[in-house]
Amino acid sequence: MCASPHEPDRWATVDSDDNAHMALSRIEQLHGTPAEQAAVLRYPDLLQLKPGHDVLDVGAGAGHIANHLATRVTARGTVCALDLSAALLAHARQRNRNLLGIQGDAAALPFPAGRFDRVFARWLLLHLPDPLAAVREMRRVTRPGGRLLVVETDWDSLCISPGDTDLVRRIVHANTDRQANAASGRRLTALFRRAGLRDVQVHAFVDSVHTGDSHWVAFLESRLDVARAAGIDARRLTSWWGDVDRAIAIGEFFVCVTRIAVAGNVPESADRLAGHEDPTGTGSS
Ligand SMILES: C[S@@+](CC[C@H](N)C(=O)[O-])C[C@H]1O[C@@H](n2cnc3c(N)ncnc32)[C@H](O)[C@@H]1O
Repeated sequence: MCASPHEPDRWATVDSDDNAHMALSRIEQLHGTPAEQAAVLRYPDLLQLKPGHDVLDVGAGAGHIANHLATRVTARGTVCALDLSAALLAHARQRNRNLLGIQGDAAALPFPAGRFDRVFARWLLLHLPDPLAAVREMRRVTRPGGRLLVVETDWDSLCISPGDTDLVRRIVHANTDRQANAASGRRLTALFRRAGLRDVQVHAFVDSVHTGDSHWVAFLESRLDVARAAGIDARRLTSWWGDVDRAIAIGEFFVCVTRIAVAGNVPESADRLAGHEDPTGTGSS
């Protein structure tokens, strides 16, 4: 289910909601989980990144990944961090003064066609009203023969123990119902195909812990407010959180979620002229 049209996805309004501090702490929680820390190390290879490349990170947030990619392109290349939020871009520039920070919208990237060798986005599409338009824009600004890597989390796949199954489902749905496009992860390969990307590769992995990893615990605790706001009984939530605490203490806690990284190449011009792109965007070709 998509976010209500009356209640925009909060990641689309970080500056106007003045919640950059909250946004930053949420990114730190999810970026810091053990599985994501391991995955981040693989992103440069999945992107086939080389020294000297010009790279764009779309929806770069506070620059965690842009900064990591910058170490691979070295001083011979450049990394541009683009985001809607000026406040988060300021954090990105604090992290690494060499990042180029551009405020802009993923739906209309302010760059000419073929400007970048590599284009990357993590945890962006699920917050956009039209993910396909963004993937098409990413492809447009990638040079022929260049490469695109997009990483999403499928939050409907979130499993948590302990907890009554029905209650946990409701907590999970309270979270995903606030996202503009909760299914964008499971639809990534289709989006890549419709945008005309070739040699599409999928690297799905499970981010899981069975200990009280502080990043995961802080993230789940932050979902209590979301669940309350969705109308779930506050006493049930308090009781559930007590169960989670006890499970952590005795080693019976478990949480996992599916993360999906999809890479694809922009065809060389001859391939494009051969008409491989689905011009309708409907996937019917
Ligand atoms: C969950 S954060 C992820 C940040 C970063 N990619 C990371 O992985 O650390 C989502 C980011 O997308 C940005 N964003 C949301 N809508 C956007 C849009 N239409 N164009 C560009 N950035 C957008 C938000 O400001 C936020 O920084």
